[in-house]
Amino acid sequence: MTSEPPTNSPDNLPKVPTHIAIVMDGNGRWAASRGLPRLAGHRAGTENLRRIIRACVDFNIKILTIYAFSTENWGRPSEEVEGLMMILEDVIDKELDELNAEGVQLRHIGRLDQLNQRLREKVLHAVETTKNNSKLTLCIAWNYGGRDEIICAIKHMIKEGVDPEEIDEDRVNRYMFTAGIPDPDLLIRTSGEMRISNFLIWQSAYSEWYITPTLWPDFDREELQKALQAYNQRDRRFGKLSTACDKV
Ligand code: FPP
Repeated sequence: MTSEPPTNSPDNLPKVPTHIAIVMDGNGRWAASRGLPRLAGHRAGTENLRRIIRACVDFNIKILTIYAFSTENWGRPSEEVEGLMMILEDVIDKELDELNAEGVQLRHIGRLDQLNQRLREKVLHAVETTKNNSKLTLCIAWNYGGRDEIICAIKHMIKEGVDPEEIDEDRVNRYMFTAGIPDPDLLIRTSGEMRISNFLIWQSAYSEWYITPTLWPDFDREELQKALQAYNQRDRRFGKLSTACDKV
């Protein structure tokens, strides 16, 4: 990654979201439209991820969460599932040093127990290696499902004997995979699909959604800037009244 000044820094965008979460959808369609196998789409999506990480650093976004493999994705053909696992392993093998040098902290959300031991260890190693970095937190949702996360949190609280009277939002947050990470301000979904697909269903209660027809491999820096522009036009009220609206 370079640290050259951004050519299209969103200087005119006063509000920079702290946390962006992305459903990187459309890799399969991107590949199909070129007569390529689906895995070629996932590889192109991985290349694009590099560009978007760089853009997030340039735009001073502090946390980027990406939905890379859901608990439901195990239902895809084994060739695709294995290919995706290999992509993750490859990314850790080839990119960890550079990401670490650039100050990227890697976090994982989801369940590691269903991954093969080698991959599990690589993920844990990547998380451990980068844990003190603070330029950008890249949170990889892998074998992640929002419902699964809530079930894990409930089980964990019961096992620890948490008093039901002491369960509130703060307590639940601390039992989520995302513990310590603020809720996403902006959720982006590429490829035009308008659904949440079990992604951050607890954390996205008041996130702003931005949906674009652009397929993930084509979602470049300019597209990210358009999403940031849209975010800057939103009036986030969190169920209250706008600050601009001072009369009842
Ligand atoms: C959704 O597109 C995309 C996925 C299920 C996989 C996304 C994974 C990557 C881009 C790999 C990179 C990630 C890391 C962390 C190395 P789709 O296949 O559902 O597309 P379609 O709806 O067009 O079929």
